[in-house]
Amino acid sequence: MKLVPGLQDSYNNGMFQAVRGTRDIFSPLVEEYVRLEAIARRLAAQWGFGEIRIPTFEEAGLFKRGVGETTDIVEKEMYVFEDRGERQLALRPEGTASVVRSYVENNMHQKEKNCRLFYVANMFRAERPQAGRYREFEQVGFEVFGDPGPLADAEIITLAWEIFKSFGLSDLRLSLNSIGCPECRGPYREKLETVLAQMISQLCEDCQNRHQKNPLRCLDCKKCSEKVRAQAPAFQLCAACQAHARIVEDLLGACGLTFVNDPSLVRGLDYYTRTVFEISSPVLGSQSAVCGGGRYDGLVELLGGPATPATGFALGVDRVVEARFKEKPPASPPLKEQAAFLVFVKAGPKAVEYGFGLAQRLRQKGVSVFCSSATDSIKSQMRQAGKSGAKYALMIGDDEFSKKQVLLKNLQDSSQATLSPEEVMTRLASPC
Ligand code: HAM
Repeated sequence: MKLVPGLQDSYNNGMFQAVRGTRDIFSPLVEEYVRLEAIARRLAAQWGFGEIRIPTFEEAGLFKRGVGETTDIVEKEMYVFEDRGERQLALRPEGTASVVRSYVENNMHQKEKNCRLFYVANMFRAERPQAGRYREFEQVGFEVFGDPGPLADAEIITLAWEIFKSFGLSDLRLSLNSIGCPECRGPYREKLETVLAQMISQLCEDCQNRHQKNPLRCLDCKKCSEKVRAQAPAFQLCAACQAHARIVEDLLGACGLTFVNDPSLVRGLDYYTRTVFEISSPVLGSQSAVCGGGRYDGLVELLGGPATPATGFALGVDRVVEARFKEKPPASPPLKEQAAFLVFVKAGPKAVEYGFGLAQRLRQKGVSVFCSSATDSIKSQMRQAGKSGAKYALMIGDDEFSKKQVLLKNLQDSSQATLSPEEVMTRLASPC
């Protein structure tokens, strides 16, 4: 693909800027991302999930068919592009359709009766950016294949809850609903379609277009959901869906999870059947959903596989980390005990080599050694040492080099001692 000559880009302002809705993430946020991913991986192993790495882009048709042609995600938010082979591709807006594609393509149903997969992956949606809503964001998702029972639903909800608790979130709301199966949804769909036809002039353009193709989507439209819900007929679950929903609730109760039954929770993706849920954090403001999921018993078949029940969820890593920072702002990090900052004090080339060699040997023993440029002033190096979080400064100049010594300064209490390199190694590699 050729770049368009004279294309307007942010360099017109004299520098490039991150694309709208994307951002760079720095410390201390980065450490929290890593910590959350580690917790998710640890619990995934404990609950029997294997990790899958899915491609960043897929055929656009996979999401059209899987997520639903009349959903906001597919209609308005997908990054679709044509590659050099004129294939229509899309950056993944979510992970479930990709995992199901892989499950079908790799015949996983033949290999494992109860297949459990999880992923850590960035997603892309061209939504209107605002606090907590990005165009590139990270999800950790979990999918369970082959289990039609309510226990699998209760298990994934409990797993999501456990991840949040282990991460340290305390203020969370769990909302639960059942959107039934095709059998109970069929008659409801017809009734809703009639109501929507009567109020057609009050609906937004999207809902006017989709009220026949996918009337249930109007219940979840950002613009019309309130008025539609006010006039929508009550949804009646069939006996089997009712029993399923009750057992999910009882199982959650058995684990001590409190939840709110929210009949307005329909989720924005078409593949769900029966159980749907969301977990939100009130500290986050308008984009408060930190996790969403539910059962999707028809999706594997829809994407060309054998009829296979499935259930799962994805949590939004960016929002979870933000919620944690809002609930509990991070304390200043403790001093790094096994870390030193190398400070060159008017050091000639031989003294620099001496310090460089010592730093290398210390790192090989597991000690962290930071340094800046040997040409920086001592004042600047000491300031950087203070900021680095290292407990010690290793001060080296021509004098230390000629006597084969090191001045070790404790940055916490300002005490200092002149030591041999071996004594420094012993002191730092095994701090008291
Ligand atoms: P989702 O509700 O679209 O579900 O996304 C899950 C979570 O991703 C949300 O609860 C939110 O925390 C986060 N998220 C979504 N959009 C954004 C955004 N623009 N910026 C920041 N965070 C965002 C799914 O994606 C389903 N695939 C979940 C699933 C898995 N259902 C069954 N299995």
